[in-house]
Amino acid sequence: MSGADAAAQVSSAGFAPPSLLFGGDWSPEQWDRGTWREDIALMRRAEVNTVSLGIFSWSALEPSEGVYETGWLEEVIDLLTEAGIGFFLATPTASPPPWFTLAHPEAMPVTAEGVRLTHGSRDTYAVSAPAYREASRRIARMLAERFGHHPGLRGWHLHNEYGTLDHGPAAARAFRTWLQARYGSLEELNAQWTTAFWSQGYGDWEEITPPRTTQYLHNPAQLIDFRRFSSDEMRAAMCEQRDEIRAAGSTAPVTTNFMLPTWNHLEQWGWAEELDVVSIDHYLDTSGPDAEAHIAYGSDLTRSWSGGPWVLMEQNASGISLGDRTVTKSPQRMIRHSLGYIARGSQSSLFFQWRASLGGAEQWHSGLVPHAGGSTRRFEAVCELGSVLERIAPVVELPADGPLVAAEVGILWHADGWWALETPHLPSDAISYSAEVRATHRSFWRAGIPTDFVRPGAEASRYRLLVVPCLYPLSDEQITWLERYVAGGGELLVTFLSGISDESLRVVPGGYPGRLRDLLGVRVEEMLPLAAGEESALDTGAVVEEWTELVEAIDAEVLARYTHGELRGLPAITRAARGDGHAVYLSARLRQGSRDAFLAETAERLGITPTLPGAAERRLEVVRRRGDGRDHVFLLHHGTEPVRVRAAGEDLVSGLDAAGGLEIAAGGWAVLSLASGTGLEIMGG
Ligand code: GLA
Repeated sequence: MSGADAAAQVSSAGFAPPSLLFGGDWSPEQWDRGTWREDIALMRRAEVNTVSLGIFSWSALEPSEGVYETGWLEEVIDLLTEAGIGFFLATPTASPPPWFTLAHPEAMPVTAEGVRLTHGSRDTYAVSAPAYREASRRIARMLAERFGHHPGLRGWHLHNEYGTLDHGPAAARAFRTWLQARYGSLEELNAQWTTAFWSQGYGDWEEITPPRTTQYLHNPAQLIDFRRFSSDEMRAAMCEQRDEIRAAGSTAPVTTNFMLPTWNHLEQWGWAEELDVVSIDHYLDTSGPDAEAHIAYGSDLTRSWSGGPWVLMEQNASGISLGDRTVTKSPQRMIRHSLGYIARGSQSSLFFQWRASLGGAEQWHSGLVPHAGGSTRRFEAVCELGSVLERIAPVVELPADGPLVAAEVGILWHADGWWALETPHLPSDAISYSAEVRATHRSFWRAGIPTDFVRPGAEASRYRLLVVPCLYPLSDEQITWLERYVAGGGELLVTFLSGISDESLRVVPGGYPGRLRDLLGVRVEEMLPLAAGEESALDTGAVVEEWTELVEAIDAEVLARYTHGELRGLPAITRAARGDGHAVYLSARLRQGSRDAFLAETAERLGITPTLPGAAERRLEVVRRRGDGRDHVFLLHHGTEPVRVRAAGEDLVSGLDAAGGLEIAAGGWAVLSLASGTGLEIMGG
């Protein structure tokens, strides 16, 4: 692949490398040259075609200020090139070296408690500190000048998992500038932040600080603005690096690896606009049966942010540390999981990391090459994955038009919802945005129905159903957009805790949910959270936990009523006709099983069908990934009984013809190559 080819990998349809990318983070700086050669031989054996280099290599690349040592990296890249292996090159700015922190103590982050951190771990930087920004730009430029035209360069991996929040003086200055741009005047800021409460009126911009530890509760508007600011500030730092790389003439695609799912410091839609391709790191709790649903969730989110194909930059090879122990997954499950990401649009199966470290903080994190080496069942599975990816290589091609995975259900997503529900002292701190969004997505996944995530304000008319789970702040424009969606014929489903406030987290008066009342035809007088462990129910048989409301149906049909306690007989779920569409309101938090039933019924009522009827019941996950003139139907079997499927096409993995029927073993997989739109069926189903 020439340098020009690397740039051409991004077409109008998205990121299209020549084959599915397979490999992972490789840290040669931790190993001797003999191990480098052994690694290259093992990579060839496993058909690895991509590694990510330099992610935490700052001290090896710039051992003292302004002194660069890139000879070792050139040697490594030469070895890779000889072996035909491409690479992502990282800017190493997630881990400044000790010399930097000693020379620039003011560039170290300060916690909310006022503790200034020092080196010793990673991610220790104050993103607003001029010295940090300058040093980051410098090393990005240096790397782009020396390596930015290399034919093996697959793309730029900017930084690593942006996400260090700083509460120090540099952040305070930048936060004030950000607030000035947002509000224009202190008068406006005081009004938006409701600073009349608890004597917080600001008379000078200099009085405003990041939300540092204080005696009791913070102002929620200050909290959410600080999250928005931090996301914007990190994005600006990332864009500076990208611009240095472009100024050095490197045209290779640019990405940064987002982190899912336990914390969220980024407003991903805005970030995605700055990147050539979105990539994520995905670490799962595989201890229960939920991992597969989680893969689908992470993949659908990332495909939606990216607007098409995306890159799985990291997953773990066999185990991750969860709390107090490492949870492992079987080699077969590792392969099936890898296919789960690709089914939903990933152009890669990349891992953290190639070889498990012998020392250092993550010496017990798994690698593709375990401590025991290449003669292991783990590494055999890695080789098997390499061979499967090679056989399914045609899936990498993108459709000439239309989506990569067609979905009729959209779920509204915005980081504001996450941040709003993380502010303290809400009517119930038990409701988490990410848990609600995931539970909603999980229901559709269990029904075998494809979903996209939708950016507020985006074109949504292709979705027959648009779900808004717990998006607490909504702006006037967003509400107008929802009204237009319904008037145009869409079915909108809004859940409790959506549209409660404006963007500054000020409650909209007159009954909940604020300015959505007219659209939904309801007025909620009171929120009535349940006690931990308490249950309620609806007359549909649905079980309710955590959340109920006193709802008045103004001009909406009542679909379900509460059956318990003081709400007995009162509306719980309503549906209002508006224009050509309908707006449904769900006022209760349904337990997962009841949520599954309600959402499956809603989809059925709208004529939205699973990708393959009958498959989900057998725990066979079916995803149709569209290609150029062909569809690739992924069959991932998470169940325990074999399933037979028939279709006019071939399984790319086994090479078998599926026209007479193809058996998918329990725990197994197949990838059917079919002419676009060709159907399939379950035999004996
Ligand atoms: C992250 C990082 C990696 C590594 C893994 C495993 O996602 O990007 O550097 O730390 O987690 O913990």
